[in-house]
Amino acid sequence: MASATSKEKPRILSGVQPTGRIHLGNYLGALSVWREQQDGYECLFCVVDLHALTIPEVVRPDELRRKTREVCALYLASGIDPERSTIFVQSEVHEHAELAWVLGCVTPLGWLHRMTQFKTKSDQRESVGTGLLTYPVLQAADIVLYQADQVPVGQDQKQHIELARDVAQRFNQLFGETLTVPDVMIREVGARVMGLDDPTAKMSKSVGEKVKGHAIGLLDSPKAIRKAFGRAVTDSGNVARFEDASPGVLNLLTIYRAITGKPREEIEATFDGQGYGHLKMAVADVVLAELEPLQQRWKEIMDDPTYLDGVLDRGAERAREIASKVLVDVKRAVGLGR
Ligand code: TYM
Repeated sequence: MASATSKEKPRILSGVQPTGRIHLGNYLGALSVWREQQDGYECLFCVVDLHALTIPEVVRPDELRRKTREVCALYLASGIDPERSTIFVQSEVHEHAELAWVLGCVTPLGWLHRMTQFKTKSDQRESVGTGLLTYPVLQAADIVLYQADQVPVGQDQKQHIELARDVAQRFNQLFGETLTVPDVMIREVGARVMGLDDPTAKMSKSVGEKVKGHAIGLLDSPKAIRKAFGRAVTDSGNVARFEDASPGVLNLLTIYRAITGKPREEIEATFDGQGYGHLKMAVADVVLAELEPLQQRWKEIMDDPTYLDGVLDRGAERAREIASKVLVDVKRAVGLGR
């Protein structure tokens, strides 16, 4: 493994919030991309439990603890290999919160008010905690704490990663070159999976918990998955071409393409002009073929808490090794300490 200060390979950091039902969008936009990067990069993947506190009224303490473990197990079940990648829980590395404070001091408030995720989430509530506004600062801290070069995420996180870049650049301008300015890594196909019930809105963990048929949960039963695809919103025609398809059909074609990796032409030749029933069942088949082994591994991991704890203990230790050194550099740069 690379030493903490020097990098033998470029570094990746990413994470998932342990809230709601983890779904096919999270898998296609993030987890499956992470899996593919493990040889080319030194990878760190955290479960961002501190971020989950930003909406305290919907996340109960016991549930948060349980979901944190479940999401760690989903990383492993998705093929994140703890021998090659560092898997850890964000709150177990206190440097994240400490660095977030320092970065918050160099982040103009206007930048945070512009974040669309903040606007959407705060619009839905009468009162919001300060943490919801400063959420992207903590996210920036997650990334620069490891001097990450690339951040693989779905399309919806692009704005947050751009903010992390801006914050790192501003810090470097104020205090001298200290932080690596990260790049966003977004896959071409599957970075924005849409809701099956409403293909104009992205598939979402929180909606998926409330509305049946919106999302495909990674741990859903085969029956539920077939049913959700069967009910997916399409249109009354039979056009299945990427250029001309209606949003619901395009979403199904995109999921199919992201999983199979087949060329567009081949997919269109198979499904264009046919009834959508055929497309829906073909998508359900490829999704199930992908998820069934994942679910089997997930159950095995959840049945072996000692193994999971071992992975997370080692992961936190490795993460701290890097994080503590970078935080020392940051503190020195800004003049903290004696
Ligand atoms: P979160 O937990 O909402 O989502 C986890 C990952 O899944 C991606 N994603 C999607 N991709 C495709 N289609 C969708 N419908 C879809 N929905 C979600 C997200 O883009 C993300 O990659 N703020 C982050 C977590 C975070 C983080 C970080 C990420 C905290 N610190 C540092 C990267 C680096 C979030 O809430 O993701």
